[in-house]
Amino acid sequence: MSGPADRPRRLRQSPAVRRLVAETRLHPAELVLPVFVREGIEAAVAIAAMPGVRQHTLDTLVAEARACVADGLGGIMIFGVPQAKDERGSGADDPDGILNVAISRVRAAVGEDLVVMADLCLDEFTDHGHCGVLDAAGRVDNDATLERYAAMALAQARAGAHVLGLSGMMDGQVGAVRAALDQAGFTDTILLAYAAKYTSALYGPFREAVASSLVGDRATYQQDPGNAREAIRELGLDLAEGADLVMVKPAGTHLDVIAEVAARSSVPVAAYQISGEYAMIVAAAERGWIDRERAMLDSLTHIRRAGAQIILSYFAREAARVLATTGRAHVPG
Ligand code: PBG
Repeated sequence: MSGPADRPRRLRQSPAVRRLVAETRLHPAELVLPVFVREGIEAAVAIAAMPGVRQHTLDTLVAEARACVADGLGGIMIFGVPQAKDERGSGADDPDGILNVAISRVRAAVGEDLVVMADLCLDEFTDHGHCGVLDAAGRVDNDATLERYAAMALAQARAGAHVLGLSGMMDGQVGAVRAALDQAGFTDTILLAYAAKYTSALYGPFREAVASSLVGDRATYQQDPGNAREAIRELGLDLAEGADLVMVKPAGTHLDVIAEVAARSSVPVAAYQISGEYAMIVAAAERGWIDRERAMLDSLTHIRRAGAQIILSYFAREAARVLATTGRAHVPG
């Protein structure tokens, strides 16, 4: 009898064998849930473009954080939606601002059972919707923005955040924030640098989630999606400035960048499966065109395989629950 001598299918013959040889597994501890907390609402508000995701009140946010602990997640990333916005984003470093109050409420509820992360960026707080402050000509002023970020970092550290997520893509932001924190004695506050953050149409649903007032785009500070080499430059700067963790975003459309960054980074690599990535899967599944659970687990597996050790995803709790109840789901397919 003739046939191929080498038979890769031998290792695909049963679930038990496939589980044994799987190179990539998912675990709840490496998943982080991004959440939104909105000032001035009496009850949680649904986000139309992100079915299943809500803008929380402080109370429902605390309940969500406790649920993350129960589901065994690694962390929670908090975004604030203030009632009033102004040109300098004053609410961002106000200790009574919604994000800082939310950080302290969540931290008081979860203690050390969950890593509490806060978005460190001005776009939710500025009336023009940009991630920084503007100069007289209306351009995003890099160095003036760094001063605002330093003030925000101190407010978030004082509120009890374990990790600050620097998502603004200003040059020098990691160094500026590290220096401000160290000077104030917050040497243990961890910095998660969005080393490679690309412009993307897939941020659309997030803009609804944070009631963004942005007109125009972020092309002068976020990266052009066609550029891979630039990510290496950004990574080098963030590591040199003291980043403890680095992130690539969006995730599913930038798997090559994740792989490149993972190969070169000396610190753990995270990736953010963004709002539009979530919305596409949920929308297609709602129409019955794809299987929600499989698409969810597949998408997270792809990001993990590319080299991200930590994944921020709106599916984090749902995925953790599936992983806990079905052994099969550790190895999708
Ligand atoms: C900036 C920020 C954004 C997201 C996370 N941090 C918006 C943007 O860059 O336009 C988007 C996340 C998502 O789409 O899920 N503060």
